[in-house]
Amino acid sequence: MSELRFDNRVVVVTGAGGGLGKAYSLFFASRGAKVVVNDLGAGLKGEGVSASAADLVVEEIKKAGGSAVADYNNVLEGHKIVETAIKAFGRIDVIICNAGILRDKSFKSMTDKDWDDVFNVHLHGSYAIVKAAWPLLRKQKFGRIIMTSSAAGIYGNFGQANYSAAKQAVVGFSNSLAYEGAKYNITSNAIAPLAASRMTATVMPQELLEALKPEFIAPLVAFLTHEETKQSGGLYEIGAGKITAHRWQATEGVVFKADESFTPAAVKAKFAEIDNFDSPAVYYPTSMKDNDWLGKLEVAKALTTNSKGEELRYDGQVAVVT
Ligand code: NAI
Repeated sequence: MSELRFDNRVVVVTGAGGGLGKAYSLFFASRGAKVVVNDLGAGLKGEGVSASAADLVVEEIKKAGGSAVADYNNVLEGHKIVETAIKAFGRIDVIICNAGILRDKSFKSMTDKDWDDVFNVHLHGSYAIVKAAWPLLRKQKFGRIIMTSSAAGIYGNFGQANYSAAKQAVVGFSNSLAYEGAKYNITSNAIAPLAASRMTATVMPQELLEALKPEFIAPLVAFLTHEETKQSGGLYEIGAGKITAHRWQATEGVVFKADESFTPAAVKAKFAEIDNFDSPAVYYPTSMKDNDWLGKLEVAKALTTNSKGEELRYDGQVAVVT
């Protein structure tokens, strides 16, 4: 098996002063990448700023003979992080959107600030850096992006309404980037990691923490961002050496007649069938097109045929579906 290397590639890792971001930075540097180690050195709840977190990682990389530069900007100022990469290394190839904070509280006690702070770092921060880098990635016809989701984002979690909403949002963001980047050899994938870090230190027993080294997440991140990897629009859960791919599953569904018989009571009568994931007819839609509704639904037929039953065509028109 030949080693996957990143020579001459410039990798930006946000929130890389500790935890997973630090593990990624050290790994990429050990495989020849030039690394921008971004971290404002915030506390777990986003409080405080200290340059030293990023500096220490850069120092460690340099000591091992690697190449890295520290960046202390808040991810909300993504354009400044991109500027750091361009100034130091002249380009940007890989973006690992990793910076994160927690503001865990039951929804009842969650403040607007708890909500906004979490969305700012996870979602708007990821947006800001990708938005600034996007024209450069398109121009050079190469880019590799990782969005960091979470099991909480996939499944929801008690006390994490803000965090899980933001973590699901980055999956949708990643999936759309995968579409828009395809023509330009830009890929985007989302990961939901599980690793021992200060983020999990308070919620896991010690033995488990030791089995969950952040270093064990780096192989997937590096594979997905390698120049030979074309995989895009994926979502992977990873922890303690196990990687699983995720996709949506839909039931066969029920088609109602588009007339006055389509009532809440009719939905009630058929709900067990609507919700039946045990049927062999379940399927796995991978895009909006896979829903096959236009062929099946009475409502859709009404929209696509005129009163004579002739097909209505929309060629050349732009449709906006909200
Ligand atoms: P961590 O707290 O050790 O690292 C996060 C880093 O982000 C910190 O060094 C912090 O200073 C930095 N940061 C925070 N706000 C920032 C901002 N505005 N600008 C720049 N840097 C900022 O946490 P960990 O565990 O390494 O998490 C990394 C990512 O993985 C996060 O997005 C987290 O939500 C996600 N994650 C981690 C899991 C785990 O098991 N450790 C589980 C699921 C998701």
